[in-house]
Amino acid sequence: MAKFEENLSFANLFQFPATIQPWQAPLRGKWKSDYYGNEGPIVLEIGCGKGDYTIGLARRYPERNFVGLDIKGARLWRGCKTATEENMPNVAFIRTRAEFIDRVFAPGEVSEIWITFPDPQPSKPNKRLCSPSFLERYRKIFPEGKGVVHLKTDDTELYAYCRNEVVLPAGYEVLHDSPDLYAEATPIAEACQVQTFYERRWLAEGRTIKYISFKLS
Ligand SMILES: C[S@@+](CC[C@H](N)C(=O)[O-])C[C@H]1O[C@@H](n2cnc3c(N)ncnc32)[C@H](O)[C@@H]1O
Repeated sequence: MAKFEENLSFANLFQFPATIQPWQAPLRGKWKSDYYGNEGPIVLEIGCGKGDYTIGLARRYPERNFVGLDIKGARLWRGCKTATEENMPNVAFIRTRAEFIDRVFAPGEVSEIWITFPDPQPSKPNKRLCSPSFLERYRKIFPEGKGVVHLKTDDTELYAYCRNEVVLPAGYEVLHDSPDLYAEATPIAEACQVQTFYERRWLAEGRTIKYISFKLS
């Protein structure tokens, strides 16, 4: 309860009802001008949990704008608190369901989406955050033919599903594809080096990390 109470005081947290309508999101189409105060690209993390990845990217790239989205307010509290304490103007958090993403952002407003260690949803493919129905929602807020999606996961089935059943059949341009990110001979891209709570836990258990990024054309 204390976290929910404190959430109300964060200037970097935007909480929307589950049934949000576009007119209830006053920053829709104005995130750059009215929140970040610059025209830099917006990078969105879907299912950000405690916001580890959003915060990690924002520290590395202060000239870019980052926003983490999750439905769980108690988890978002951690990211909001860190961004407030570290005075990070390039960070925001949104509490709503990913299903309503196009009601929060206008067409073309977001450049990249990260999906980090999502729930694998083994028996509910439509709930997977990389399923075709979610990609269609993401497409609505990307510049036409230009948005980039990144998926990082420890889950072999989810990675195989995204790669073999969604990305390759659709013919999306694959930018990077690795079944074992940390075993690669080439240095890992800086944006991939951020590690979330879950990633650290899975690495400690000896699991391999899978990563795929692609253009949602
Ligand atoms: C396994 S956690 C991973 C959290 C974080 N990305 C990390 O790696 O530490 C998955 C997160 O996705 C969120 N989530 C799942 N489905 C969602 C949806 N449809 N809309 C918003 N958040 C969702 C959950 O609330 C949860 O915090």
